[in-house]
Amino acid sequence: MIFESHAHYDDEQFDADRKELLSSMRENGIGTIMNVGSDLAGVQRTIDLAQEYEFIYGAVGIHPSDISDLNEEVYEWMQEKSRLSKIAAIGEIGLDYYWDKEEEVRRNQRYWFCRQMELAREEGLPVIIHSRDAAEDTLKIVRGIHGEQIPGVIHCFSYSLEMAEEYIKMGYYIGIGGVVTFKNSKKLKEVASSIPLERILLETDSPYLAPEPERGKRNTSRNLPYVAQEIARLRGISKEEVIEKTRENAQNLFFKVKTSSKTA
Ligand code: NI
Repeated sequence: MIFESHAHYDDEQFDADRKELLSSMRENGIGTIMNVGSDLAGVQRTIDLAQEYEFIYGAVGIHPSDISDLNEEVYEWMQEKSRLSKIAAIGEIGLDYYWDKEEEVRRNQRYWFCRQMELAREEGLPVIIHSRDAAEDTLKIVRGIHGEQIPGVIHCFSYSLEMAEEYIKMGYYIGIGGVVTFKNSKKLKEVASSIPLERILLETDSPYLAPEPERGKRNTSRNLPYVAQEIARLRGISKEEVIEKTRENAQNLFFKVKTSSKTA
């Protein structure tokens, strides 16, 4: 069974058929889903989904493009919610310089990224990091905050192999999704074929980034076999091995760190 490490089933694109779709996951080989919060309303819906479905776990956190949702009160509320048993991570948090070009906004992103990293450390939870067009600053922050003591995944990895190796040295996992199936994704194909299989997590970022041959359509976790197949092809191993190993990896990251990292 596949472990889907990053999806947004709280998204309105699933409003029409969410129940039907989620109840079809098991029969399509999807065993566990990590639903990831990104804005405040999404975090609340993530908590509801995790409570409603046994196989769904949740991550609470505010995406860098939505940090206008954050203040001390919201932060405290998230801290309280992060202690719920079905909440397994803080995320998605990080930096996104693609849309936000103003230095003041970027400074604010960095501030709340650090605060949410500290939240993860305090609560003994792993982090799900989003980083787009901000390679240097993300690495600087993760290093500066002693990120090697806070387990996590760099989701939808879009940087170089050298950058992936820097994160792996600190114990991080690399999230790989639909983009690896795109013909022009040379850099990600290189990452997917070179880093240790023990460091890869499968993800979709549903409803976004559907893999070939579904590219451009609404994405769902049911497309994950295409991603596993491409990683297997690149590495010359079986799809089953990719599925099995990445499931183990995700379980190690999300289900084993609570409490243990508190002493780290
Ligand atoms: Ni996402």
